[in-house]
Amino acid sequence: MSSKLLSPFTIRNLGLSNRIMRSATWDGTADETGAVTDRSVAIYRELGSGGIGLIVTGYAFVSHPLGQANPNQYGIYSDVLIPGWKRLVKAVREGGDSRIAMQIVHAGINSVFLVRKGYTLLAVSKLAEVNRPHREMTDDDIEGIINDFTAAAVRVREAGFDAVQLHGAHGYLMSQFASPLFNRRTDRWGGSPENRRRFHVEVVRRIRKAVGKDYPVLIKFGVQDDREGGMSLAEGLETCRQMVDVGIDGIEVSSGVGTSSAVIKEGGSDRPAFRERAAAVKKTVNIPVAVVHGIRSLKMAEEIIDSGDVDMVSMSRPFIREPHLVSRWQRGDIRPATCISCNKCFPILMRGEPLECGEERRLREEANVDN
Ligand SMILES: Cc1cc2nc3c(=O)[nH]c(=O)nc-3n(C[C@H](O)[C@H](O)[C@H](O)COP(=O)(O)O)c2cc1C
Ligand code: SF4
Repeated sequence: MSSKLLSPFTIRNLGLSNRIMRSATWDGTADETGAVTDRSVAIYRELGSGGIGLIVTGYAFVSHPLGQANPNQYGIYSDVLIPGWKRLVKAVREGGDSRIAMQIVHAGINSVFLVRKGYTLLAVSKLAEVNRPHREMTDDDIEGIINDFTAAAVRVREAGFDAVQLHGAHGYLMSQFASPLFNRRTDRWGGSPENRRRFHVEVVRRIRKAVGKDYPVLIKFGVQDDREGGMSLAEGLETCRQMVDVGIDGIEVSSGVGTSSAVIKEGGSDRPAFRERAAAVKKTVNIPVAVVHGIRSLKMAEEIIDSGDVDMVSMSRPFIREPHLVSRWQRGDIRPATCISCNKCFPILMRGEPLECGEERRLREEANVDN
């Protein structure tokens, strides 16, 4: 089958077999230190044989312990973790020609997990309306976290990944810096829009310097907040422009603060809710742009690409249920993804179990009762 969507594409110098991305997906299979386990390797072996152009890992925390968002989340805060990641990359390479990027993150104030463990969270600003124990970061804290992001990106390259992706969406630390709702600082890291994007610009600049000019550095970016008083699209677009100036190579467009649960809940079938804002990013920058959220059919994915709105389409939940969705489409079985966007996969993770499709589990249990 030949279509623009399923034809090769290049990000910087990274050749991809098609324009489909697996968006970052926390799978709850890391051990308590954040290390890759056999279960993680098995998940990525499956994904790697499924024909996906670019697979992005679940988010990996760059600072320990205060960067972690959730239990059994991957980590990339130490060299000790690199051998595990190498195994995972090898499993993907053995499966086919998918390329793989690691997503890296700092949770900031967005970690109920750390609060349950008794930690005081690191916040961009002290917020009276937030009752989780937290304190405002000092200048030294911020410098330390930028160094942690930079060291993590170097480890990603050392572990053999094809690219690194910053998590700049869904209310985690980068979103917190960008958003006036979370960033009420009056120093050079807050106040004006220019100051609220300084963290993004600095992180990208330093990573670019550390990994060299040819290594692909990507970001999943919440280009606007979907909450009253949050960051506007115009501001987000200017941040995109400035990140390109300091070396970002590709932007996957999502949402900022106020939407982390909406991202999970709203994704009905074939309703690409962020398409318009992604098209605005594409008009603003001259690097590849992807859109994520709610895409479920080959027809919709092809239409989005053929329209020129963006360069790549990205999906998460469809690949939980069907890791081989792209190869199925390539074989000519073009029925939409079987994922019904019901989100029954999420409570499984929240209970501390490894990720699986909750709808499949329900159907299995129903069949067992009938037998
Ligand atoms: C179980 C689960 C885990 C997720 N983990 C991450 C993550 O680690 N990093 C991230 O940026 N987004 C994460 N997301 C959000 C997805 O990448 C994606 O943005 C969202 O689900 C919308 O896309 P979809 O409609 O194709 O699922 C996760 C979503 C789900 C359902
Ligand atoms: S439980 Fe299965 S069908 Fe429901 S959203 Fe998750 S992957 Fe899709």
